[in-house]
Amino acid sequence: MTDRYAVMGNPIGHSKSPQIHSLFARQTGQDLSYEAMLVPVDEFAAAVSHFCQQGGHGLNVTVPFKQQAWELATQLSERAERAGAVNTLTVNDGVLTGENTDGVGLVRDLTNNHAVSLSGKQILLLGAGGAARGVIAPLIEQSPATMTLANRTVSKAIELADQFSDLDIINGCGFSDLAGGVYDIIINATAAGLSRQVPDLPAGVIKPGTVCYDMMYSQEPTAFMEYAHTQGAGKAVDGLGMLVEQAAESFYIWRGVRPETAEVIKALRA
Ligand code: ATR
Repeated sequence: MTDRYAVMGNPIGHSKSPQIHSLFARQTGQDLSYEAMLVPVDEFAAAVSHFCQQGGHGLNVTVPFKQQAWELATQLSERAERAGAVNTLTVNDGVLTGENTDGVGLVRDLTNNHAVSLSGKQILLLGAGGAARGVIAPLIEQSPATMTLANRTVSKAIELADQFSDLDIINGCGFSDLAGGVYDIIINATAAGLSRQVPDLPAGVIKPGTVCYDMMYSQEPTAFMEYAHTQGAGKAVDGLGMLVEQAAESFYIWRGVRPETAEVIKALRA
């Protein structure tokens, strides 16, 4: 029988996950199905339970259910525990294991696909919501020199940085505090791009050598990429590669096989 997987979210119509996972399955010769499921906002737990009862093998979870998935999981990986959010659920003998592959996806996209090493670098992460929280620990595992977390609402940046204070090299601040700072890599994890806005950074924070990474993606350059270019950034990329890499990590968790991501990223760009 074909093993069944799905992504649950709301909205879900534009999800690329079914396409990505069917490309992975074809490439690796795995017999599985993967569908997108639109779940009413107050019915996530019931939908997961129904999916498990029907013999489903694994789920990806997207907005707005990642935190609920974290609460629902019977056990959590260390990464998921720390992220406070789950994007990958594995069903096994009634046990629901929660993982978070977003951070690994971001790190792999930067290091493998864009040849951007994080070790010894000054990293600036913009935003202090779920998207930022999910990638902090995996970024710090790459041994950057410093990691600054800046947010429009300053208190949220300070609070989030405090939660990772055992990792030493992180500090939280507001956008205006960034003036005069030097950052090798700036990662946009804010939701500003959804309304084609950009975080209000002081002039001069983005320099010719700065790598700018937008965790959002779209067919056209994102607002943050366009802004980065106008500020003279050497390199500005979107988060499509991160999307594919986090999916590849989920696929690996479920199937024990690591798909080739480059050809899938290329297919999605086309
Ligand atoms: P997500 O789970 O996608 O991170 P979220 O928890 O709602 O979503 O967080 C959204 C983040 O984007 C927050 O850091 C938010 O800043 P505030 O904490 O100040 O609200 C940030 N954000 C949203 N719109 C923004 C904008 N126009 N400029 C800067 N930051 C913005």
